[in-house]
Amino acid sequence: MPLPDSFLDELKARSDITEIVSGYVSLKRRGKNMVGLCPFHNEKTPSFNIYPENGSFYCFGCGTGGDVITFIRRIENLDYMEAVRFLAQRAGLNVPEDQVDDGMARLRSRILEINRETARFYHRILMGEEGKAGLSYLMGRGLSLRTIRHFGLGFSPAGRFQLCDHLRGMGYSDEELITANVAFKSRSGRAMDRFNNRVMYPIIDLRGNVIAFGGRILTDEKPKYINTNDTPVYHKSNGLFAMNFAKNTDSGQLILAEGYMDVISLHQAGFTQAIASLGTSLTTEQARLISRYAKEVVICYDSDSAGQKATARAIPILREAGLLVRVMSVPDGKDPDEFIRSHGEEGRLRFQKLLDACGNDVEYQLQKLKSQQNIQTESGRVQYLNAAAEVLAGIQNPIERDVYAGRLAEEAGVERSSVLLLIRQLDRKREKIRRKQELRTAQQEIGAVKDRVNPEKKDHLRAAAAEEGLIAHLFSHPDDAENLRAKIPPEKFCTAFNRRVYGLLLEKIGKDRVLTLSDLSHDLTVEEISSVARILARRNDTPAIRQDVEEYIRVILQEGEKMGREDIQKASDEELVLQLQRIREQKNRRN
Ligand code: UTP
Ligand code: MN
Repeated sequence: MPLPDSFLDELKARSDITEIVSGYVSLKRRGKNMVGLCPFHNEKTPSFNIYPENGSFYCFGCGTGGDVITFIRRIENLDYMEAVRFLAQRAGLNVPEDQVDDGMARLRSRILEINRETARFYHRILMGEEGKAGLSYLMGRGLSLRTIRHFGLGFSPAGRFQLCDHLRGMGYSDEELITANVAFKSRSGRAMDRFNNRVMYPIIDLRGNVIAFGGRILTDEKPKYINTNDTPVYHKSNGLFAMNFAKNTDSGQLILAEGYMDVISLHQAGFTQAIASLGTSLTTEQARLISRYAKEVVICYDSDSAGQKATARAIPILREAGLLVRVMSVPDGKDPDEFIRSHGEEGRLRFQKLLDACGNDVEYQLQKLKSQQNIQTESGRVQYLNAAAEVLAGIQNPIERDVYAGRLAEEAGVERSSVLLLIRQLDRKREKIRRKQELRTAQQEIGAVKDRVNPEKKDHLRAAAAEEGLIAHLFSHPDDAENLRAKIPPEKFCTAFNRRVYGLLLEKIGKDRVLTLSDLSHDLTVEEISSVARILARRNDTPAIRQDVEEYIRVILQEGEKMGREDIQKASDEELVLQLQRIREQKNRRN
């Protein structure tokens, strides 16, 4: 059942789209609208628009759009009801929950309960008889009981059904346990524990929910870790370990490590700003999350070659999220955990020194390139300069560029102006490639969305354009609804998607209600909302006038008749009978 209008109106009134979006995107005014860099695809020139007048947003680059609820759904990765709750909480409103039937939200909350109960269960085991091996493993790695409790660490027992039996006893079904990915389906069809004989690290989100687990084997056997796969409550691509603790450190800095143990060791040593991206290579979603809680991030990956490759990949992603990036290299081929432990009492101090001393991403990259060439030789210098110019061409800030160009010129004994020239050449080359790519992805995405959402449009372009014109008109002129309803009822529309949107609008327009996309966002998928947002955005600068509206109506009716004739020609006798029957029914309903 949808939410009551009164609640939605209140929520809309208190959730200003410009204000909310500017928490994620920095916006500039352009006329009556706002523009910024799209948070849903990578771009360098802003094509992301906010239309405060009708409470919608639309990106001309990737075709994503919608209302404020859709925005939160997409950016926070929530379903409809969760996004509503998120906004309601922010606005200080109570959601009239009992009227809402939302299967997905219920499933997610069941999974979160299962996860919480699983974490408790594993922790109890760790502290009891069956967890002895696990506990001594963790303590052997230098963790105090306090740290173990703080992180809620646990141990998965050897038995194949212990967790499942426990959770079944609490009323969870096998299917739920499997969906939560704490169990898998055995050959007999029964749910079986997914983790055995491993120390368990729960992953906790910013709201304190246990969303996933990592389990480490106590020996050198492979696989070293088993992790929760993606579930309705967990997406590897945006999880960050220990972010629940690190978000509270107000140093403005986060330390990005690779593994569970690195982070736990760092926290134990007092570096509570440490988080981990957990083995997968860093994603733009993770970078965006980081940028919401810190200005600066220090990459502190393992010093082995895999760690260095991951560092090189992470730098541009973090930079593009607007973060200041520094890179720390841990000496002696160690990971941060080994480094801290190997220095005993001194560990904390030594690590702090490394942290204070480490340079930024540009210095790190230049240093690395330099170490790969012999810059005493001429050819070595040329190669170094070319590679270094590539790095500097990636820097947006002109002052920063200039500083490093000067430094580089001095180092290699060449004119600063030639370094700058080289960078500009590379710039132009990149710009060309980038534009081509941007255009291509935009075309692909828009094409894909359009076809999926309104597949009939391509065959009825003229009609669809007129229909879209009427939809946009209705949004800005709800007072015209009665007039339109009389002149052109929804069933006259030629394309099914537009017919549905138009029908929904007519249905929702009530007395004294301003319509926004939010009124549709319960009934449409996020993709469908993007399509409606595009309809609005395309016509934002050229609203329809009276004559346009008349013309739209004329076109739709005309095209509809044409279609009708074609259909009748194509239709078989049987279909004709059915169609006549439908028309009769419709007439009866209207009378
Ligand atoms: P590492 O191999 O560096 O492990 O992988 P680690 O964190 O230092 O663990 P210890 O010190 O040996 O106990 C870094 C991260 O990559 C992921 C885990 O998140 C791990 O913490 N990983 C690694 C896996 O998911 N699966 C694996 O088999 C290995
Ligand atoms: Mn390690």
